[in-house]
Amino acid sequence: MPYNAELAEIALTIARRAAELAWQRRAEGVEVAASKSSLSDIVTRADQEAEKLIRDALAAARPADGFLGEESGGGSGSSGLTWVVDPIDGTVNYFYGIPAYAVSIAVVEGEPDPRTWRTLAAAVVNPAAGEAFTAFEGGGAKLNGRPLHVKSDTDLALALVGTGFGYDSEKRVRQAKIVTELIGRVRDVRRIGAASLDLCGVAAGRLDAYFERGLNPWDHAAGALIAREAGATVGGLGDAPATSDLIVAAEPGLYAQLNPLLQELYADWR
Ligand code: IPD
Repeated sequence: MPYNAELAEIALTIARRAAELAWQRRAEGVEVAASKSSLSDIVTRADQEAEKLIRDALAAARPADGFLGEESGGGSGSSGLTWVVDPIDGTVNYFYGIPAYAVSIAVVEGEPDPRTWRTLAAAVVNPAAGEAFTAFEGGGAKLNGRPLHVKSDTDLALALVGTGFGYDSEKRVRQAKIVTELIGRVRDVRRIGAASLDLCGVAAGRLDAYFERGLNPWDHAAGALIAREAGATVGGLGDAPATSDLIVAAEPGLYAQLNPLLQELYADWR
């Protein structure tokens, strides 16, 4: 099996185990362990347990690789690869029992920095929907083993566009203002609540495009590769790479229409 395919297999196997754990804990009742950047930015016991499961499993399977996780932070390795992990993306959905949350695992080469990293393989598993998205570089994207392709030739005015909001209330208001400007120029807007699933949604043709400002590396590492391998263009504002400043994903023709509009809308954002 080619190297990247093997890495994707590891990501999928471990993501499935963590997703099963999250699913069981959800059925038992969710417990908030702490809040982070704001009172609404919660971490549940299941987030912590799932991240420990993933970290331990990766340490056993890939002892020389580094780790960067939402709940337990980073640890460097000697191989030049780092696993970038969100144990439960869509934590608020998880807390409320909305079936749109996922375990997100990616492995990147180089510094674990979205400006420069190269993502080799990824898995995003939503246990509530029974869906496992996977991709490896050059190998295409799949949903439960079936190849995925973005929709093609969508006019911006007919595009269904996903987005999200951070936890800081002042920033959320500014993000909402951008959406106010955009909503009259597209078919409609969706706020699903899990960035990894938004990106997989673009890959699966469930969304025509997705953009968000303020994401952390673990929110988009896996989903961005899955979207790209399904044929989407994924980047930041203008020619910039996708970072916490902005991520935009859409099929290439739509991306070419949406990105300039976002540049206009974000021009005043300091
Ligand atoms: C959040 C989700 C949400 C996005 C936020 C993220 P979390 O991640 O992906 O959709 O809008 O910006 O922080 O906190 O659920 O892992």
